[in-house]
Amino acid sequence: MTSLLPRRARRLAALAEALLTPHGADRYLELINPMLVRGEIRGEVTDVRRQTGDTVTLTMRPSRAWRGFTAGQYVRVSVDIDGVRRTRCYSPAGSQHRTDGLLELTIKADPQGLVSRHLNRNTVPGTVFGLSQPDGGFTMPERRPERVLLVSGGSGITPVLSMLRTLVDEGHPGEITFLHYANDAQDVLYRAELAGLAERHPGLRVVLAYTATDAGADLRGFFSAEHLAHAAPWYREAQTYLCGPKPLMDSVRELFGAEGLSERLHTEEFTPPALTFDAADATGQIRFAHSGKEFANSGKPLLAQAEDAGLRPEHGCRMGICFSCTKVKTSGRVRNAKSGEVSGEENEEIQLCISVPVGDVEIAG
Ligand code: FES
Repeated sequence: MTSLLPRRARRLAALAEALLTPHGADRYLELINPMLVRGEIRGEVTDVRRQTGDTVTLTMRPSRAWRGFTAGQYVRVSVDIDGVRRTRCYSPAGSQHRTDGLLELTIKADPQGLVSRHLNRNTVPGTVFGLSQPDGGFTMPERRPERVLLVSGGSGITPVLSMLRTLVDEGHPGEITFLHYANDAQDVLYRAELAGLAERHPGLRVVLAYTATDAGADLRGFFSAEHLAHAAPWYREAQTYLCGPKPLMDSVRELFGAEGLSERLHTEEFTPPALTFDAADATGQIRFAHSGKEFANSGKPLLAQAEDAGLRPEHGCRMGICFSCTKVKTSGRVRNAKSGEVSGEENEEIQLCISVPVGDVEIAG
């Protein structure tokens, strides 16, 4: 008898889903409690911590559709701001083996970033966000390298800290160096946690490099060959995982490239998709309602067209990954330059960087 219950429950759920079409049960469950939805993932914030003046660390409990992540991956976080859903990517900072199932994100408020500033200012325990399943190939191999060098700067610490915490949880038997860059000691995210990990794990060496002061620094200044030789003299035999601001990424890449070690250096690589568009066939007028700018469709993706017209829409990756260029299309049709799909719904969210107008298009922003 008991073995029939799950099947019966599934049938009832399917029946409820069918009866509740076109919105599906999730739209109704969401009204009762967003964490009850089944087809999508939600994260409920359980703790808000401020480690530095311009960051917020959010601990959240993902809803039941969450399948867990691998250290180094990122998730998309969606939040409604003034009635518009906005999505951004953040890497969890916790160990992939965390047993309480909680997810920890540390978000730096970018002075130009609508979403990061909103999350920093307005998130309180009980806030619920939309989440995606994890994504991204910036991960360690299942057979862990014997020697691991983790290099980060600023808020780029999160994916490599996740790797470090994962390795410590696994009792990694080899050597690990965690080389982190910040302005000064106050600017170091997770400073106490790093010290605690170094105490717990005999093979771990934490090296803090400060770019603005000598006080309390293990190393002073920006990344250099000397820093590398000091922090991890064995780096040529190691696998190195790197995340941080562009100047740091560029200098590490350059040094590893010059030494023929590029294959041992791993970064989050977003590969630009092959965007297809044909400017010759372009027709119609494009209008950005908020600014009142109107111009002839050149056939390029909307982000490029807006910039050509002197607008400065918020954007990040320019390749359809980060969602920071998302705007509401109020009318017209666009073709997704990655998938080729054409969509013509009114008031739909589109990513400007990969949306090519097909005839007249109006954007709310
Ligand atoms: S999705 Fe990243 S800029 Fe468009």
